[in-house]
Amino acid sequence: MSLKPLILLGIESSCDDTSAAIIKDTIILSNVVAGQEIHTKYGGVVPELASRAHQQNIIPVVQQAIAQAGIAKEDIAGVAFTRGPGLLGSLVVGTSFAKAFALAQNIPMLDVNHMYGHVLAHFIGGEEKKKPTFPFICLTISGGHTQLVLVKDHLSMEVIGTTIDDAAGEAFDKTAKLLGFPYPGGPLIDKYAQDGDASKFVFAKPNMPNYDYSFSGLKTSILYFLQKQMKENSAFVSEELNHICASVQQTIVDILFTKLVKASKELGISQIAIAGGVSANSGVRKRLLEEGQKRKWDVFIPEFQYCTDNAAMIAITGHYMYHQGLFADQSISATARLTFNR
Ligand code: KG4
Ligand code: ZN
Repeated sequence: MSLKPLILLGIESSCDDTSAAIIKDTIILSNVVAGQEIHTKYGGVVPELASRAHQQNIIPVVQQAIAQAGIAKEDIAGVAFTRGPGLLGSLVVGTSFAKAFALAQNIPMLDVNHMYGHVLAHFIGGEEKKKPTFPFICLTISGGHTQLVLVKDHLSMEVIGTTIDDAAGEAFDKTAKLLGFPYPGGPLIDKYAQDGDASKFVFAKPNMPNYDYSFSGLKTSILYFLQKQMKENSAFVSEELNHICASVQQTIVDILFTKLVKASKELGISQIAIAGGVSANSGVRKRLLEEGQKRKWDVFIPEFQYCTDNAAMIAITGHYMYHQGLFADQSISATARLTFNR
């Protein structure tokens, strides 16, 4: 006897992307993401503007996700939404939408932790897709977070290391800002790094205990380095752009992997995954493959569209929560600083 497939709607609105996805068991039928151009000129996400844009985007994005999936609204058995962490004004839009939709359709709600979503993006796909086995280590690197996560089961995770200041994505974006790139500049650093010599400039790396990270010192040392060089040659940045980007990227990748390798060795775990927006970085991906080969790791890299913020990862998390009966009720509220253990 085959069970009826579980169709869920996923909603993500934690930062500056409004996204809706339809999932049928673990298969994504649609994953619509509306980005917000508006923040580019401000050099970062402006919370008030993000919230307003979510309001405008949410209905069309959900409608498009349902249409693309080729299902009817009535086929949806539950709605999974990002409860936090993130920007409160942004989270409120997705959370309120989910409540209204659940009420109107008389279906349950699943309040998803965004950080679980990044990790569980690895479980999107059918039988044919190779997935990590438990326990595995996931390095979640995004614009807001840097976490080394010990994943014991789909809904049982422990943060074993984190950043004490900036996230890895912020290190990329803040450096990009210093170089005059628009927000978010991480992908541009990646692009220019392709043709650069990563060993040309050396930046100091932090000396953090355990599995923790720190990136604010790097940002400061890059700032002083650029100021000094520009004093001697005002065309320094444009002349050396590729080498600067390659060297910065290499430094960030080195910092990230030192702790990942340490954790893998000490915990004796060789199933290694990366997640989050920065896992789209080509230097990060290349290093993971190299270390994987050297250390006989099984490595897992999410599909590009599931690296940056998206509702598909919220939907897959909702899928596992639904099967465990972890439903939210109408009294739920968005929580900007949602802790990792829900
Ligand atoms: O996961 P995400 O979409 O949003 C958060 O939850 O923060 O991550 C966005 C971050 C930004 O900092 C962005 O610059 C960075 O991911 N990013 C990259 C690349 N693609 C996205 N950083 C470096 N290289 C990339 N290719
Ligand atoms: Zn994210």
